Amino acid sequence: MISERRPLVILGATGTVGRQALEILRKTGSPLEVGALSAHRHAEALKALAEACPGARTYLTSREEERGRLLEDLRRGDYAVCLNAVVGAAGLPYSEAVLEAGRTLALANKESLVMAGGLLTGLAARTGGRIVPVDSEHSAIHQCLTGRRPEDVRQLLLTASGGALRDLPLEDFSGVTPEQALAHPNWDMGPRITIDSATMMNKAFEILEAWHLFDVEADRIRVLLHRQSVVHSMAEFVDGSILAQMGPPDMAFPIHYALHHPERVPSPLQGFQPELFRKLTFEVPDPRRYPALALGWDAARRGGPAGAVLNAADEIAVQAFLDGGISFPEISTLCRETLEAMPALPSASLDDIHAADAWGRRHARGLCTAPR
Ligand SMILES: NC(=O)c1ccc[n+]([C@@H]2O[C@H](COP(=O)([O-])OP(=O)(O)OC[C@H]3O[C@@H](n4cnc5c(N)ncnc54)[C@H](OP(=O)(O)O)[C@@H]3O)[C@@H](O)[C@H]2O)c1
Repeated sequence: MISERRPLVILGATGTVGRQALEILRKTGSPLEVGALSAHRHAEALKALAEACPGARTYLTSREEERGRLLEDLRRGDYAVCLNAVVGAAGLPYSEAVLEAGRTLALANKESLVMAGGLLTGLAARTGGRIVPVDSEHSAIHQCLTGRRPEDVRQLLLTASGGALRDLPLEDFSGVTPEQALAHPNWDMGPRITIDSATMMNKAFEILEAWHLFDVEADRIRVLLHRQSVVHSMAEFVDGSILAQMGPPDMAFPIHYALHHPERVPSPLQGFQPELFRKLTFEVPDPRRYPALALGWDAARRGGPAGAVLNAADEIAVQAFLDGGISFPEISTLCRETLEAMPALPSASLDDIHAADAWGRRHARGLCTAPR
């Protein structure tokens, strides 16, 4: 057990992951002490959370000057670990600032890697910053690969729950309501990722995330539908052995792991009871049900800013679906059409990535409002 107190920053503290992080810290003998918290709009909720963290600074990032101050403070590096649990492309500048400071980035904001994985891993290598994934699948693979070299790996196997609509007849997809798509069978998550789970765009993003994090090409990353969500992912090695990481479908586990890595800090969390799962199933996802999944491999093949464009299109499409502007199947169609229309765009800097993101948003918005 480590006794030295270390300061922690939690970005997106009012969200599902942010709140779970605070909860798990409260329950464990964690050596981490919350030094700062951010939210975007929910000022009252942020204030309430900060009251339980004596001395913690707060930042409400919808206020431009507070956002600027947060970025400056992150670059100054007066903390040990930063959990980035902001949702969407808005999380990217914070990831950059933490890695610039050479600090540990516990990364829930998958969009950072989807948009700019190559730039961020390059930055981390230069500054000594470290990226520890919070996504349960990547946390699983991270745990399986610790101490291994990329050349030891034959393939990665990402598991997917299949989302809220995994058993809905295909002919009913065009009439799916937001309430239906938000009713996830296994995980309790924010709205964007829950819809992305129903389309499997989330898994498409995770292919890109795994590619960048583990230096394994996208065509050596497979996806399996695993309804029980207890095998969080697997790594197969060149000698044919497969390691899997298991646990209940509860984000508290990967959050706790990422915040304290490389230590294993005791927690009251209970592992799952294997005897309760007499049957674990693994299926190849049906591409007719999940057309968005292929866009992950497609974006990896295209390279450059394709991940940023895909993410931008999906942010617009998911919001349009939640607002009643487009149907559920149109989320994937609109993302595919945006990716296919992407012109040659530069991706050498984060400014290029932000420009590609803006292009993707404009194009996707145009498709949302175009008559079909
Ligand atoms: N939820 C999960 O179980 C889970 C699992 C794996 C990965 N992730 C990833 O973790 C990230 C967070 O997901 P979540 O489900 O926790 O999201 P969420 O519940 O929607 O919370 C999002 C958080 O981000 C803040 N935020 C929203 N817009 C922002 C902006 N423009 N700038 C700065 N902060 C902003 C929100 O602040 P306000 O409350 O003030 O709006 C809130 O604190 C996502 O990238 C998601 O893909 C989540």
